[in-house]
Amino acid sequence: MNAEPLRPVLYDEARDVVRVLDQRRLPADEVWLELASAEEVVQAIKNLTVRGAPAIGVAAAYGLAVEARRGAEAPRLREVAETLVHARPTAVNLAWAVRRMSRRLGLGAAAILREAHAIRDEDEAACRRIGALGAPLLPPRASVLTHCNAGALATAGYGTALGVVRAAVEAGNAISVFADETRPFLQGARLTAWELKRDGIPVTLLTDGMAGWLMARGEIACVVVGADRIAANGDVANKIGTYALAVLAAYHHLPFYVAAPWSTVDLQTADGAAIPIEERGDEEVLMLAGQRIAPVGVPARYPAFDVTPEALVTALITERGVVRRPFGPGLAALAAR
Ligand code: MRU
Repeated sequence: MNAEPLRPVLYDEARDVVRVLDQRRLPADEVWLELASAEEVVQAIKNLTVRGAPAIGVAAAYGLAVEARRGAEAPRLREVAETLVHARPTAVNLAWAVRRMSRRLGLGAAAILREAHAIRDEDEAACRRIGALGAPLLPPRASVLTHCNAGALATAGYGTALGVVRAAVEAGNAISVFADETRPFLQGARLTAWELKRDGIPVTLLTDGMAGWLMARGEIACVVVGADRIAANGDVANKIGTYALAVLAAYHHLPFYVAAPWSTVDLQTADGAAIPIEERGDEEVLMLAGQRIAPVGVPARYPAFDVTPEALVTALITERGVVRRPFGPGLAALAAR
């Protein structure tokens, strides 16, 4: 393990800026950006400088803190909150964090920053608890498949799906990871591979179409992914490609685990059909590393997320507990805690 924990979103109180590790530049360059306004935070969320459901919630919280510390009053902060909520639609952690911050907007800059720090600290603690609860679900020697990046980079630190992996490794188990490259933004190839290598955890890269074949050959023990929103019935929105992996896992009788903090659970949304799915511009699909890969004039689709029906999920791993089917009553019971 790397001695220095990876924390991709921080607040610099001396300079009054939000510091974010630029995830567009990894793995080639480790560049930290300083965001001095909520508008800069909104842009950083939209253009995926900072990404991953819990991490964008933390960034939004600090976006409100930076405005408050630079003199914005409650009415202006409420406008800013509205803009932040709409930066990306699918991950409910963003709306959750802004809603939580909104209860502090009249209390002064110090209270607002304290709340943002609390959101950051609690998310990292939740990830560590998710790791502790999820690690025993993995066999002592196992190759785990993951999709996108649900690691330290996507959270306040430690990660959800990769938190489970980290905790299992810390417990002495021989865990290796297959990382889907995750077209088109390549979160798996660029980010998951980078942070696991940084921690000395064995990781092997796959292109997105390879998982089925490796499952058929018995090379994958289970799938562990993160989530952007979990509906009240247990349906899971996550990075596009997750649904296909869940279908493959079910066909091959492999466990399919979803690891997420409670801030990702949205009991107001009955099921996956009601989850808004972000559609991004098709140039991200048509271009690869700055090169056009399709004929000019051919359009592309880019739904950035998909919904995995709860029937394909083996268990939801949250910091409040591990939930198995039927998820509705299980989630409702955890909500009451
Ligand atoms: O578009 P992204 O990179 O923000 O999508 C991220 C994911 O889909 C993650 O799996 C999810 O946010 C969980 S992060 C702990």
